[in-house]
Formats: sequence, structure tokens, C-alpha cells
Amino acid sequence: MTDILIDRSDAVLTITLNRLEKKNSITVAMYAAMADALHAAATDDAIRVVVLQGHETIFSAGNDIGDFLSPPPVIAEPPVYRFLHAISTFPKPLLAAVCGPAVGIGTTLLFHCDLIYAGDNAAFSMPFVNLGLCPEAASSYLAPKLMGYGRAAEVLLLGEPFLAEAALEMGFISRIVPPSEAAALAQRQARKLAAKPLASVVETKRLMKKGQTTIVADRMAEEGLSFARLLREPAAQQAFGAFMHKHGVAKS
Ligand code: COA
Repeated sequence: MTDILIDRSDAVLTITLNRLEKKNSITVAMYAAMADALHAAATDDAIRVVVLQGHETIFSAGNDIGDFLSPPPVIAEPPVYRFLHAISTFPKPLLAAVCGPAVGIGTTLLFHCDLIYAGDNAAFSMPFVNLGLCPEAASSYLAPKLMGYGRAAEVLLLGEPFLAEAALEMGFISRIVPPSEAAALAQRQARKLAAKPLASVVETKRLMKKGQTTIVADRMAEEGLSFARLLREPAAQQAFGAFMHKHGVAKS
């Protein structure tokens, strides 16, 4: 699908969010395509590293709001859960190039990336409470763990954005560069990693994540139930209805 571009060059697989006209917001089909790509990459010996990127002006406006308002199809494992499971358990290095706004899941998915190269225009936000929702992707666990409870309360309870400098200071991202250089830097670092012994890289990542794997899975499951419940309640419906109204799209 063209909203997600998948490109393999040597041992590096690059997944690009390519829905710029909708600010790279992520649809059900896009989650499914990314989940499939990650699952395949996890077991494909020819792929050693995955890079995730958006555009120089925007990483992602988060979940597609139209999808939030349409009744979800009743299926065992919705694509967003499949994607979150795939990204949070991906055994090989996962890099991201992030420029411009990264909203909602555009930020929370980054908690599962190993190296993040950000443009100096990067702006991270998790405005779940402002939208009548709650965190997802285990960000209710990973944000306080990373940045301390006080800072996490500002970004999760107040929904305050944080910029590249703050993200670097808290260890959320690895480096800040001009937006035009973020993707190229991520590719260079990916190639460096791809040249290292894969078993050592995979084992090192596993050891660094050890201790949080079960907690992350449990928290994602609990967040998922709360998120689905809150999504049906008036606060969220009103917030997303107002967004769609502003953009001239009728609520279905
Ligand atoms: N879902 C669906 N469409 C979205 C979207 C989303 N999450 N975010 C943006 N779009 C669409 C807009 O509807 C608009 O489409 P249109 O041109 O057909 O009207 C287009 O993308 C451009 O959006 P716009 O808001 O005009 O761009 P901007 O540059 O002024 O602002 C953002 C960019 C990301 C700050 C802003 O779009 C935004 O806040 N989006 C919503 C983020 C959000 O709440 N996500 C859910 C988190 S849980």
C-alpha cells in the first residue's frame, strides 16, 4: 500500500509513513501493513535492522481520527494491537527518524524504538487526557520510568508537548540534527548496526529490555481495555467530532 512504503536496502528495512495529506495519521490498514512488515522482518535472516520514518515536516498526527469515530470491526486482534505487539517485541534494532509533530501513537510507538534521530523541529505530544482518552503502547508505564513521575504527569495528565531538546535531555531520543539530515543519519547508524554480529546485537537488546517485557505486555493489555471504553464515552466522541467538524468531514 502506498500510505506505508517499505523499502529494503541490503540488511536494512525502512518503513515510511507516507500519508502526508493527512499528516501521516495512521489508519487501520497502515497498522496492518506495519505489523506484517515487522513480523516478517523479525524472522527474516536477511534483515538485521529496521528504520521507521515519516516526513521532514511531520512524523505522525497519531491515529486516524475518522477511524476512531467509526465502529471497529469485531475481530480477534485489531491491527493496532498487532502493530503494538510487533513493535514492542521486535528483537532486532529499531531506529526512527522523527521530524515535526509526533502526536499520540506517533510518540508512544517511539518508546519501543532503540535509537531515535530527531529533527530540531520535532515536537512530541501525548494529548490523550485532553481527548477524553488514556495512554497506550505502555506509555503509562514507560513515560514515568523514563522521565520521572513529575515530568510524565505534565506530558500525560496535562498533555503538554515536549520538544527535541527536552526529549534529548531525558534520554528519549539519541541525537538532534537539522530535519533534512535526520533520515540520512538514521540510515548511516542502521548500516553501522547491520555490520555488527547480529546475535550480539539481539542479545544485548534483549538484556537491556529484560525485566520490563511482561510488565509492558500486561500494561498494554490493560490500557487497551481502558482506551476502548473511554473512546465510546462522550468526552472522546465530542473531541473527535469537533475535529472532524472543523475539517469539514461528517462523523459517520
Ligand atoms: N486523523 C485524520 N486526519 C488528520 C489527523 C488525524 N489524526 N490529523 C490531521 N489530519 C488531517 C486533517 O483533517 C486535514 O485534512 P484536510 O486537509 O482534508 O482537512 C489535514 O490532515 C491537515 O491537518 P491540519 O490540522 O490542517 O494540519 P496542521 O499542520 O494545522 O496541524 C497537527 C497538524 C498534527 C498539529 C494537527 O493536524 C493535529 O493536531 N491533528 C490531530 C492530532 C490528534 O489529535 N491525534 C490523535 C491523538 S490520540
